[in-house]
Amino acid sequence: MKILITGVAGFIGFNFAKYLLNKNFTIYGIDNFDDYYSIKFKVLRLKELKKKDNFFFKKVDITKKNDLKKYFKKKNFDLIFHFAAQAGVRYSLINPKKYIKVNKEGFENIVKNSKNLKNLKRIFYASSSSVYGSRKKFPSKESSKLIPQSVYAQTKLQNELFAKKTLKDNKFDLIGLRFFTVYGEWGRPDMFIFKILFAHKNNKDFYLNNFGNHERDFTYIKDVVKILENLIKIKNFKHKILNVCSSRPINIKNLSDYLKKNLKIKKIIEIKKNSYDVNKTHGDNSLLKKYLKLKKFTNFKIGLNKTVKWYLKNKIYKL
Ligand SMILES: NC(=O)c1ccc[n+]([C@@H]2O[C@H](COP(=O)([O-])OP(=O)(O)OC[C@H]3O[C@@H](n4cnc5c(N)ncnc54)[C@H](O)[C@@H]3O)[C@@H](O)[C@H]2O)c1
Repeated sequence: MKILITGVAGFIGFNFAKYLLNKNFTIYGIDNFDDYYSIKFKVLRLKELKKKDNFFFKKVDITKKNDLKKYFKKKNFDLIFHFAAQAGVRYSLINPKKYIKVNKEGFENIVKNSKNLKNLKRIFYASSSSVYGSRKKFPSKESSKLIPQSVYAQTKLQNELFAKKTLKDNKFDLIGLRFFTVYGEWGRPDMFIFKILFAHKNNKDFYLNNFGNHERDFTYIKDVVKILENLIKIKNFKHKILNVCSSRPINIKNLSDYLKKNLKIKKIIEIKKNSYDVNKTHGDNSLLKKYLKLKKFTNFKIGLNKTVKWYLKNKIYKL
């Protein structure tokens, strides 16, 4: 089975590619090494993947139509996992145009080029929990009302709407995965856990938004890659959107206090709320569990401790 993973030098794409390569899948990967966060870190991830003979990488920018068209020529993918994107809610306040170009137009380019692939059965594309926006009722279900609050969230919703609209024109299926705060080894430096560790190790102040008064449905990467592998095996999808979450919201102040105590972090400065942040994410994962017959998710403290240990041991804060 030939699988294309876009954004393969990124957090989720890399971890999933690594997992599948060890199971002898043939993986094609593309990425443009965007500089939103450390390119050195992305290169390190890629170096890890290149150790395997069943991995084929090409540097391709999904917003460059001709390059993408050329890349897709004579390819014969059975499945595509589309993870390439401009991630991050807060940065979409600063550079909204980039989100429209990469997330909206980039996804549409992928779908358009996929029309010529004879064997393609399905494209799984990354959506986000951010499409739910600020809500009072939890957990958020796939059928819940969507109130995207940031440009990032809007581009993810546009992907879902585009997928729905074009579904009937394609021979392949389109399945949107609403990821909820994925964390773990090789994680993103712009997300909470690695950001606080980076500040601590580099003796910098860490600014805790909304005085830590947030909750996030943290989902461990090692659970996510198993979920994604399981999705490959499913024959028919009645539902075209799936929440990918552990359904266990974690309070950020408690998390910050835990790290502060255990790592003796001194420089945490509590600040007011960022207008783009939602107070809480908590997804309903019953649909995911029904599809996958999942038994249980990794305990958060266990996943967290492994993540912290990995980050410090590999001195990622130096990259
Ligand atoms: N990590 C999470 O908690 C989370 C939560 C919700 C949704 N998501 C979504 O899941 C997907 C993967 O997220 P991630 O955490 O791995 O992010 P990431 O930033 O680590 O990975 C994205 C990758 O896409 C690449 N990329 C960016 N622009 C590109 C372009 N024009 N052409 C080719 N490649 C490009 C980047 O270089 C990067 O390696 C994204 O779509 C993201 O929005 C992630």
